[in-house]
Amino acid sequence: MNQDDRAPFVQALQRAREAAYASGEFAGQESFMGASEILALAAAAGIAPRVSVLDLCCGIAGPGVLIARELGCTYAGVDASASAVAIARARARGLRCRFEVARIPPLLPGRFDVVLLLETMLAFPAKEALFQEIAGSLAPGGRFAFTVEAGQPLTDAEREAMPDADTVWLTPLPELLAGLERARLAVRWQRDWSRSHLATAESLAGAFAADAPAIAGQIGDRALAELLAAHRLWIDWLRSGRVRKIALVAQTASAPPVRTGRPPASARPSLPRAPAGPPVS
Ligand SMILES: C[S@@+](CC[C@H](N)C(=O)[O-])C[C@H]1O[C@@H](n2cnc3c(N)ncnc32)[C@H](O)[C@@H]1O
Repeated sequence: MNQDDRAPFVQALQRAREAAYASGEFAGQESFMGASEILALAAAAGIAPRVSVLDLCCGIAGPGVLIARELGCTYAGVDASASAVAIARARARGLRCRFEVARIPPLLPGRFDVVLLLETMLAFPAKEALFQEIAGSLAPGGRFAFTVEAGQPLTDAEREAMPDADTVWLTPLPELLAGLERARLAVRWQRDWSRSHLATAESLAGAFAADAPAIAGQIGDRALAELLAAHRLWIDWLRSGRVRKIALVAQTASAPPVRTGRPPASARPSLPRAPAGPPVS
């Protein structure tokens, strides 16, 4: 589904999205995450006032605006879609947010305390190269917080069935974890959100189907059919365990200890270690 002009999609799907999420859980996200999961991941990454955040593939900044508003961080969002960024800029008015239109990699120049990648890891075939780039963009002790669809790569038949399969690159979790380790990113926090994302996918599919005539009237029959087909596949795959949705926070090494004298006043406090999630293999 080509969403280069994002506004018609955002408008067409707004009513169904509002209906699909539980009360207080819709914040403009274009994904299966609920608002409380977005904030839980942000908190696990140590996002707080004065923390600098780079949000990769921010879309219309549903999560970004929620995080910037609730947690008071300094926020930069980047997305390849100029129309999505135009909507994001309008949504973020009055907040300490800036946006760039860019296809990543490469990442924006500069160092950040936290890099976010929400609900878009599956679009990157070369995940380990991306981890290396992200590690290079993080300040010492910086955190990379993301969600990922974990599973064996799609078969030819699955690729045939999935609309826009060229943006669906599943990777087994052990391979992802090994890639993080090689990029010197140590996992600090991990959750399996497969069950809640299955419930959200089911709810969204039901709401899109219920509002089908109005949605098709704005984006066309074909785009609606592809949207529903993709949701049906995610529902099947999450229900059967073919795919699992994992949320992770991984951290770079802290700055090397100062060998003589007292630590400088500017030394960053280290991130309190969030409790590890249940083991996920
Ligand atoms: C599913 S949306 C998720 C948006 C947002 N993170 C959220 O959770 O609501 C995926 C976004 O990633 C963007 N995107 C995909 N590949 C990209 C790339 N290589 N560089 C920049 N943006 C990309 C798309 O334009 C789209 O806005």
